[in-house]
Amino acid sequence: VPIAFAWRGDFEDRDLDALHAAAFEMGDGRAERAWRDQVTRHSLGWVVATVGDRLVGFVNVPWDGGAHAWLQDAMVSADCRHDGVGTQLVAVAREEAREAGCQWLHVDFDEALHAFYVDRCGFVPSSAGLISLTEAG
Ligand SMILES: CC(C)(COP(=O)(O)OP(=O)(O)OC[C@H]1O[C@@H](n2cnc3c(N)ncnc32)[C@H](O)[C@@H]1OP(=O)(O)O)[C@@H](O)C(=O)NCCC(=O)NCCS
Repeated sequence: VPIAFAWRGDFEDRDLDALHAAAFEMGDGRAERAWRDQVTRHSLGWVVATVGDRLVGFVNVPWDGGAHAWLQDAMVSADCRHDGVGTQLVAVAREEAREAGCQWLHVDFDEALHAFYVDRCGFVPSSAGLISLTEAG
């Protein structure tokens, strides 16, 4: 069965919870997060990758309503990795953000993913900053 990619494609919160828990090794996949509500209200869009009716990949594309869009929560099911799914999720996100009139697509990532974002997906490295708003200090 071929892998299908859909901009603003439909998905179930529980399926994305399970994918997220496996991808980021957090939680048990049971605490349901209102993903659909969140991305529908706050994002320019999102990309889903499916094999038949199974969700195997996702990336969220929040934005500022103008020139800037971001990638958040890129994830591919472990058994579908290293097959170009992640690269294609990003390519669809990039094209749709461009179509929507955005001028810049941002992402931040750990150095371990340099090969993915820079070598494969075509991002130019830049410095970025981050502050935790949940830790004291
Ligand atoms: C990052 C991720 C989405 C990539 O998905 P993928 O479908 O495997 O990506 P691709 O097949 O398009 O990868 C293309 C190339 O990018 C690089 N790459 C991909 N994933 C990588 C990883 N986890 N570490 C280092 N390099 C990676 C490799 O060079 C890869 O080529 P190869 O398959 O010949 O080794 C996937 O590994 C994932 O879900 N990881 C866990 C969640 C995560 O960390 N998301 C990123 C948040 S910033």
